[in-house]
Amino acid sequence: MKNSPISARIIGLGAYTPAKVLTNADFEKMVDTSDEWIMSRTGIKRRHVVGDSGEAASDLAIAAARDAIAAAHISPEEIDLILIGTVTGDMKTPSTAVIVQKALGAMNAAAMDINAACVGFLYGLTTAKAFIESGMYKTVLVVGVEVLTSITNYQDRTTCVLFGDGAGAAILRREDTANTGILSAYIAADGSHTQLLYVTAGGSRQKVTVENMNNGSTGIYMNGSEIYKFAVRNMEDAAKRVIADAGIKPEDIDLVIPHQANIRIIDSLAKRLHVPDEKLFVNIQEYGNTSSASIGIAMVEAQQQGRMKKGDLVLLLSFGGGLVWGAILFRM
Ligand code: UT7
Repeated sequence: MKNSPISARIIGLGAYTPAKVLTNADFEKMVDTSDEWIMSRTGIKRRHVVGDSGEAASDLAIAAARDAIAAAHISPEEIDLILIGTVTGDMKTPSTAVIVQKALGAMNAAAMDINAACVGFLYGLTTAKAFIESGMYKTVLVVGVEVLTSITNYQDRTTCVLFGDGAGAAILRREDTANTGILSAYIAADGSHTQLLYVTAGGSRQKVTVENMNNGSTGIYMNGSEIYKFAVRNMEDAAKRVIADAGIKPEDIDLVIPHQANIRIIDSLAKRLHVPDEKLFVNIQEYGNTSSASIGIAMVEAQQQGRMKKGDLVLLLSFGGGLVWGAILFRM
């Protein structure tokens, strides 16, 4: 149980997804796949994508952040730190975080990106908690944003049907009360599995060449079935750690929001953790896998649907390429 008299509390949430939608029927025209395969293996029906709208990661992040700032009833100048979880930022440099800082007018904030694949949002929340509890900062904006379609190989049916674009944002604020806000956070990594999910070209190891673009090396490669096995086991372990650390009973949790990557992963996890359907949040059918954006988008929808209310105990769980994984338990 946390004894610190300082808590990091989530005081505002926001989300944004692009208007254009790709359905399973659209993919049937693009690759050798079927609505039946996609639905039964993943649970995905639709995904929101930037398409040719010209939107980049910062545009999505700014829209989500503005909603979170409005919901938190703060002004952008009050933000001390901006953390953006993304692997698909606008540019290699500068960070997407500084582009967002300028657009929001959050000129008193330090700003940086976090690359932790699908767990970027939880890595961000955990970093925010640490900065707040150390006493260094009072108000932190955390965003998970991806334009995964910018690194998707639309000739690879094993990955292209999975991904969508979007952003989720949260404002965290210091509260001088023990045992509220984020009660426990756990983030982890195991770099011995880098070969399970990567983008070969576009970094300093292999530059972008015409050949790399033509052979798909600038798109995501993923060994889905191997990641699947780690995902369930590692999220279960992370959940048990934060529950034990916070000293709560598992049955006291009001809502579990897992990373939306695959309905079968979510169902196996829920079974292992004995989470009933009414305490499990799922929206993968509408958005597909939006990587670091998925949990923030789900939190906003859970709140809108009255499934995440003030005082509720909420468990967030995620995993992704790296491998990385983590869990956060908080009081809303
Ligand atoms: O967000 C974190 C990042 N990672 C993940 O979320 C990945 C987690 N893993 C998964 O979600 C699943 O492993 C997938 C959905 C990616 C794949 O499901 P699976 O049940 O593990 O399928 P599989 O990879 O074992 O493939 C089974 C078969 C293969 O055919 P053969 O070799 O059995 O003939 C694939 O070629 O399904 C085939 N297949 C497809 N068929 C139709 C793969 N993709 C498709 C497709 N349409 N889109």
